[in-house]
Parts: sequence; structure tokens; C-alpha cells
Amino acid sequence: MTTPWHFLSLRDVDSATWQELLAQSEILSGARGRRPLLQGKRFGMVFFNPSLRTRTAFEVACSDLGASSVNLQVGGGLWSLEHRDGVVMDGPHAEHVKEGFAVLARMLDGLGLRSFASLSDAAADARDEVIRSAAAASSVPLLSLESAMDHPHQGLADALTVRRKVGERAKVVVTWAPHVKPLPLAVPHAATLAFAHEGHDVVLAHPPGFDLDEGVLQDASALAEAAGGSLSVSHDRDAAFDGARVIYAKSWGARGDYGAPETAAAAVQAHPEWIVDAAAMGRTDHGVFLHCLPVRRGVVVTDEVLDSPASGVIDQAAARLDVQKATLCRAMGVTA
Ligand code: CP
Repeated sequence: MTTPWHFLSLRDVDSATWQELLAQSEILSGARGRRPLLQGKRFGMVFFNPSLRTRTAFEVACSDLGASSVNLQVGGGLWSLEHRDGVVMDGPHAEHVKEGFAVLARMLDGLGLRSFASLSDAAADARDEVIRSAAAASSVPLLSLESAMDHPHQGLADALTVRRKVGERAKVVVTWAPHVKPLPLAVPHAATLAFAHEGHDVVLAHPPGFDLDEGVLQDASALAEAAGGSLSVSHDRDAAFDGARVIYAKSWGARGDYGAPETAAAAVQAHPEWIVDAAAMGRTDHGVFLHCLPVRRGVVVTDEVLDSPASGVIDQAAARLDVQKATLCRAMGVTA
């Protein structure tokens, strides 16, 4: 059996594949993405967590390309799934992903899985066990719809949006922002890796204690260098914003606080001055504001910024449809 093309992390994507996915995304945008290129193909999604953009974009992408789609929601009619090896399944989980994904792979031509980080065990989250376990069980391509460690479709859409809005090597800031509760690292990992793939000058700005995964940072640094760009980390938000062309805001929790929800929540509320407001955007070089959405107004970013012409968040979300058509086609062995 040949190994299927699993799309789990931007760390695993080589330069040729990265460029091809973005080129195919442009080909598949608009009317050229409404052709029955995947006629008769079947795509299934398993969601452990909620979604607006990811689920809609995949369902619409399948419809536009002539494929059918199945959407399964854990807690919404799907059996509760176990993913750990060697456990006695006498708890709440009725089915193991080993059987579940093996069966789905016999009925479908491609699969997607969303499973967020636990935020209770940083080492377990770093192993990305749920999606890796499902990929091992699947004989058809498995696409990440966001895992504990990465959100590769979001990263692709982020890169495509910056190509469309800036179009050249630029200072791109991935900035931590306040929140009411700790959130996973998948999106800041994906954004950092995506902008590194693109050869931008990436500045990762966050208060002390909110470091991203060390392995991701090492890979992103190598990717940026190979693509002619750079990666640096700053705890000085004002200096980071100076002259930036793109401000990409995201909230995330401190890994040192995993397993301590009250401490973790207090930590993400302790830096309200990191909200992205008009004064901060004023330091940039006509900077574009991006965020993966959903976003909490007045906590992460002010209404004034989000409702301004500088905000590219709706275009950014719309780009998800284009990139997801590209990964679906690649997973099914079709070139547009
Ligand atoms: N950005 C993103 O993945 O959106 P959803 O969680 O709504 O899918």
C-alpha cells in the first residue's frame, strides 16, 4: 500500500509543495474553482470542536468541485473516540480512532480531522497524538482541520492573503493579544510557519512566558532562512509594530500554565495593553490587520481597527475556500 498524502503540519511541507498549493489555490479561486474536477469523490470530516469557516469552506469546496461530503461531530451523534494506545476502554469512549478512521477510509476518498489542544499537558499536545493516531489508521489522505499543534489550511490562507494584499517580502508581525481564557498554539504556529515559508521578515511579538513550541520555532527559522527571510522574537510590542506591513493578531496561553486553568486565565488577562488599537496600528507602514477569526472585539482588537479599511480579516477567511479546494484536489490526485 502506498502512503497517502497526509496534510497535518506546515513543518512537513517542502518548498515545491508549498508553492504548488498556493498556485493551485489561485487557479481554483473564482469561476475556475466551480468545475467537477472531483466528480464522484467523497470527503469526510470529523470535528471534535466547533467550526464556522473550516467546515463551511470544505462543504462548499466539495460542492463546487462535484464531490460529496460527510460531516461528523463528536458529541453530536458520533461515538466518543479514544486515541491513546494500550488503554483499557472502560471509560466514556466507545470507539478507538484505529477502527473509526480505518472504517471511514474504506468508505471515503479523503478525510479531515479537527482536534484542539488539551491545554492540560504541554508534552502530550506537542506530540499531536489525536491527529497522528488517526493518520496512522487512515489508508486515504487525512487533512488537518486544526490539531493541537498546527492549523495548516489557516496558514495557507494567511500566506495567500498576504500575497494578494502586499505581494512582496515584508515585515510581518505575529502578535500575541489578550483574551479571557487561554487558547491553543496551533494558529500562531501555522502563521509563523506560513510566513517563514514565504520568506517574510517575521517578528513574533509576545510578553515573556508566552513562547511558542521550541521545535516549531527552530523549523520556522530554518524555513525563513531557506526562503530568504528571517524570524525574530520580541517582547517589545511597540518596536515590533514599527514599520510593519502586516499585523497578525492571535491570543494564546502560556505553556507553563497548562493544567492550571485559573492561573492560565489570569495570565492571558494580565496584559490588556497588548490589545491591537489604532495607536498601535499607527506605528506600522500602512499595515494590514489580520486575524484567523473568530475574534473577540474589544479584547483582542478594538472595533476601530476591525472596522477600518486596514482590516483584511474577511478576505483572509474567504481565502480558506481557495486553499481548501487546492488541498482537496491534491489529496484526490487531481491538478486543476
Ligand atoms: N479560523 C478558523 O479555523 O475558523 P473556524 O474555527 O470557524 O473553522
